[in-house]
Parts: sequence; C-alpha cells; structure tokens
Amino acid sequence: MKIETPSNSWFRQATYGLFLHWGPYSQHGRGEQVLMRELLNQEEYAEQACRWNPQHFDANEWAKVAVDGGFRYAVLTTRHHDGYCLWDTDTTDYSSAQQAPKKDYVREYTDAFRAAGLKVGLYFSWSDFRLPALFAGPEKDPEGWAQIREYAHEQVRELMTRYGKIDILWFDGVWPGSAKDWRSAELVSEIKRLQPGILVNNRLGYRAPESENSDEFGANEDEGGDFGTPEHRIQAVPGKLWETCQVSTWRLWSHTPGERWRSAEHILDMLTEASSKGGNLLLNVGPDSGGRIPQDFINRSNAIGDWLKVNGEAVYGTEPVDVGECVLFGRECRRGNTVYLIIRFWPGKELRLQGLATGVKQATLLGDRRPLSIERDSYGILISGLPEKQPHPLFSVIKLELDGEPETLESYHPGLWGGDPSRLLSWAQKRGNSVMASTVEEVATPGA
Ligand code: GLC
Repeated sequence: MKIETPSNSWFRQATYGLFLHWGPYSQHGRGEQVLMRELLNQEEYAEQACRWNPQHFDANEWAKVAVDGGFRYAVLTTRHHDGYCLWDTDTTDYSSAQQAPKKDYVREYTDAFRAAGLKVGLYFSWSDFRLPALFAGPEKDPEGWAQIREYAHEQVRELMTRYGKIDILWFDGVWPGSAKDWRSAELVSEIKRLQPGILVNNRLGYRAPESENSDEFGANEDEGGDFGTPEHRIQAVPGKLWETCQVSTWRLWSHTPGERWRSAEHILDMLTEASSKGGNLLLNVGPDSGGRIPQDFINRSNAIGDWLKVNGEAVYGTEPVDVGECVLFGRECRRGNTVYLIIRFWPGKELRLQGLATGVKQATLLGDRRPLSIERDSYGILISGLPEKQPHPLFSVIKLELDGEPETLESYHPGLWGGDPSRLLSWAQKRGNSVMASTVEEVATPGA
C-alpha cells in the first residue's frame, strides 16, 4: 500500500495549538455568546464590558503555560461576537485600550508568545452582535451592512499591520453573511499582501448559511482558506491542511466556573487522533475574567506537555499510516521509515500487529532503551518483551524502525471484519474441524 505524504508546512509540523477565548464575556461565566444567546440588555452588557478590568493578566504566564504544555502555536480572540476589541484600535472606543484596562492585550500577547518561540494566531469574528445591520442583512440595510463590513475590514487591517509577523488569521462568526456580503476574498488578498506567508482559515462565508449541515462548517474542501477547521469533530479535510478545534471542558469556549473538564487522557487521545490522521489540534482554554488560566487546565496541560517531552516524536508533524490492525490498542502514524504505535490499552507483555510487511530493524518503547523482540510470521509481527504493566499512566509509544517504506502484506485488510476471510484460514486450520470443545481428546477426559 502506498502512503501519501501530507504537507510539511510549519503548521502541520507544529500540530498542537492553544486556543484562548477571553474577553468581557468571561465575567458572565456562561460562554462567549452570552449576549445573543440570552438576549441580554445591550446597554447593560456594554457598561459591564467597559468596567471589565482584569487584574491578573500576564501574557508571559500564558506563554509559559503554552510552552510547558507542548503547544507550538496559539490563537487569541481579538474580537469575539460581542464586538469588544482586545487591542488599541482607531475604529471604536469599545476596546481594552480605551476602557478600564487601558491595555493593548493583543500587543502583550503577540510579544510574549513570539518571544517564547510560539507562532501567533489571531481570531477575529466577522459578526458584532451589537450592530443591528448584522441582523437586518445586506438586502434590507445595504448602507448599514457596508458600514459594518468596512468596519471589520479596517480592524483586520490594523491587526495585520501593527503587531509584527502574524502566522494565522482565524476567522469565525461569518453567519449570517456570505463571502460576497463580507467581501472576504478581497480582504484575504489584502491580508496575504500585508502578511506574506500567513495562513487564513476557511470561515470565509463560501457556504450558503442555509445549506444543509451548515452547522457542521469547517470540514469541506470547497470553503476556501488555507486550512479546514472541523469543530468538535476530528475529521480529515481531503487535500487540505486542517485543524480540529476542541474545548477542554464539555462545551463552552470562554471561562465557565463549574464546567466539567476533560481528562488529560481524553485530550491526549484527541491530539493523537488528529495527528495520526494528518491534522492539528487547536485545544481551547477560557482564562477567567481576572486573566488567569484555570489550574484545572494547567494540570492537564502540563501532564500532556511532560508526556510530549518523551513521546512528542510520535505526534509533531507525523503522517498517517496503516500498517496493522491497531485500532483497539491505539493509533499509528509514521515519520519516514519509522512507525509509531501509540498504545491506549496496554496489552501486557506481547502485542500482535497484523499486516506489517516491511522488516523491522529495531523496536523500542519511547523513553526506554531496552530493545523489544520481533517475531515475524505470515500474518505480520508479534512484538514481545513489553512490560507486563502499562509503563506510563497516559499512553506508551512503541517505535518501529523499519528497513524501508512501511508496506502492508497483500492479504492485509484494515479492520478485522472485512476483506478476504481466507487470509485467516491457515491459522484456523491449525485447530482442525471438530465442533467439540477440544480437538485433543485427552484434555477433555472427565475427572482428569
Ligand atoms: C463557534 C462559536 C464561537 C467559538 C468558535 C470556536 O463558532 O460560535 O463562539 O468561538 O466556535 O471555533
């Protein structure tokens, strides 16, 4: 079986990004969309937003959390759907620079994250829930719509020209506008001119908002942009870079006291699933309204960061591979002629891998120098010499250095059920045809 080689762009190599949802909505503790979802009084919301004055924000602390957690890039909400801007904009006074904090958070974030060696991304919502023209639409209010469109374009221009090199522009909230309504293609060419090399995501309004599955945006090839953004789903976008964005809690993106947290193994499983399918994970955290990243997140993030220090070679920039029925035990991926088996359920001393044809030069457990033994038969390989008990509380990784390109046996079928059943015939025949409990009579002797 020939394996395709996905792109080797920095984005794919980076693999693991930190999504930061933070703004005045964090004060409400009920999600970043609370203004519209709960039809809050606009005046009161804005007043409270203007008074928002986080006392504990420290961009260097955030960057440290990201580095310790093994993240290689980040994306910060510069303006979410409530329209409040986290930077010093000339377009409105509804910003952290002009209201209570008197701070340009985008500057602090970009400076600190870049200095920590991370790539920096900016999230920007097309929608601003404060503006009636958004809800009237371009047909009913062409002038109002033109204003909000220009307002958004101007803000993006500021973000693209004032903060040095930006690696990602992450659009969102395109509904109810289309690509035509927002003139997103025009803006994207300008972005590319101002920031050569930047990657722009696919939420640009190319899909009709009323189209079937419009809530499942993010995983279509035809949406434009440099990468797909399947949300709450891990799904490869054919022929394109992609990144699944996921919450670290159960549902909401901004800080929600009392939300349930996903476990470190759950998050690590999402990361290894995305990566072994050739994509990235953008893992979200909502810092609290005071500006602190919750300790519940840091604990999980550090556990994964420590794991990545030992096992990261099986994650960052690896490519999909299928050289054996490994689905129950874990995930498989490759880098060149090396295959990694990321084991989720510890099998004990031996692991059978049906399907691998290529010879194995060396097999090891990452973080352990002792070589493992490999026995080969017509079905693939049997790996032995593994510790009886799971060596790492999260997942352990078996590294197989192969003699050449990973290839599968002709008889191999990805998935136990399917393909030509006769591939298992010689194994079954060893037992013989008897329907009795045993084919060897003595063993069944009563009272023996
Ligand atoms: C959805 C939500 C938005 C969130 C985004 C992250 O689009 O509407 O609130 O920021 O997902 O991908």
